[in-house]
Amino acid sequence: MTSESRNSLPRVTLARGLSSVNALVRPGHTQQVFNRFGDRFRYSFPGFPDIVVTRVPEDLRQVFRDEDKAWSWGEFLRRFSPHDVLFGDSYIFFDHKRHAQERRLISPPFNGRALKSYEQKMVDIVDRVIAQWPTGEPISFFALSHRLASDVMSAVVFGVTDQRRLKQLDRALANYFGILNGVVFESLAAVGLLTGGRIPRHPQLSSAERAIDRIVLAEIADRRRNGTIDDGDMIGRYLAEPNGSWSARDDDALAASARRLMFAGYETTAATLSWVGVFLSRHPDVVEELEASVDRGEDRLLDAVINEAMRLRPAIPLTGRRAVRDTTVGDVSIRKGTALLIPILGMHESPGIHDDPLVFRPQRFIDQQPTATSLLPFGGGVNKCLGAPFAAFELKVLLRTFLAERSFVPQATPVPHPRVRTEMMVPRDGAMLTLKRRVRQPSA
Ligand code: HEM
Repeated sequence: MTSESRNSLPRVTLARGLSSVNALVRPGHTQQVFNRFGDRFRYSFPGFPDIVVTRVPEDLRQVFRDEDKAWSWGEFLRRFSPHDVLFGDSYIFFDHKRHAQERRLISPPFNGRALKSYEQKMVDIVDRVIAQWPTGEPISFFALSHRLASDVMSAVVFGVTDQRRLKQLDRALANYFGILNGVVFESLAAVGLLTGGRIPRHPQLSSAERAIDRIVLAEIADRRRNGTIDDGDMIGRYLAEPNGSWSARDDDALAASARRLMFAGYETTAATLSWVGVFLSRHPDVVEELEASVDRGEDRLLDAVINEAMRLRPAIPLTGRRAVRDTTVGDVSIRKGTALLIPILGMHESPGIHDDPLVFRPQRFIDQQPTATSLLPFGGGVNKCLGAPFAAFELKVLLRTFLAERSFVPQATPVPHPRVRTEMMVPRDGAMLTLKRRVRQPSA
């Protein structure tokens, strides 16, 4: 491509563009940005690499296919997030070939057959947890979703069953996420944007990480000592791995890796489930239909409801890539070092892709199956969320089990505003809503 075509990309300066970056993660506002600057444009801010933004589906398909291996998610995180602190030496920073190898090694516990074996643990967790939450008075559905997601992580990822250890892990996780979501860390993360992703050490966070790892290491040591290496949870699967992919590594690496998976999967799932509750509590007609379909043992509407909530409130509204060599997007030439924003929320709200994009209407995903660019809460391409099958399965089991016992008192209040914390979109009011006991309709 010629340099003319690159220059033809509208250039948005700091003075014109700064406030629009925020709009890309604000539901109901994303399209203003594209309406103003075009379907494709580039931010040109002093001290930052060029940042290309596109809502053209074919552009994103091309980036996800990445045929010339030009795009790196790791390099994007390195530049724009406090990567050392959040991700350590995670495999996501490896180059294309090594990334693929490593991903293959760690994915089996997140795929197909493995998932089914976690189902009963998930069902038991919902039954136990919801019995402890009141009906008939307002509760934070985000807090309840957190409880569920945390217990699933402890039982299914870490496989901790000892009650005392579970409590310790629970406290350690709460402390860790408290620090991550606190003002100090958020401010440091903002500083990281200016310093190319480097932030000062955060001793409290390091010690919170070590506290989690110590508990996991104690669990691993017990299992080795007692010979109880079953594969009913992810750590068990790693330990039982016959070809030594994980068992050959040291336990510290295994514990750190489990912690990072938990970091990737716990708040994202809790946030998603809480948005599902927010929307259902505002749509009693959908709840009625959903309950009937779940009672009939059908999953189609269940999937559609979860997809629609993820469309309107993707837990991660924005991801990105960085060009590690010169490349093109459509007819635009891209220089090595350029960043590319993948506007997940912006695609979900695009009127060119969805009819009435701001309306909650799960039926749309029954009438038409989602595509890689019409629904991308898990990103796409080689970096597509490793935990996507696990998260989709977990959300489905949690919601289905929940709906067997509880329902939502219809809320007249509008859908709460989101708050974006640690890059994640959560309900600002904690998803306050009221639960009621489910009264099942007698079958006809
Ligand atoms: C609803 C829940 C979740 C959401 C919305 C979510 C979203 C995402 C997104 C947007 C990405 C970046 C993808 C890209 O840039 O193309 C990602 C990556 C990732 N996620 Fe998730 N995630 C969820 C749950 C989980 C769970 C449960 C796990 C593991 C237990 C997990 C592990 C990962 C990993 C390891 C990556 C990096 C993938 C790679 O580079 O190979 N996530 N996730």
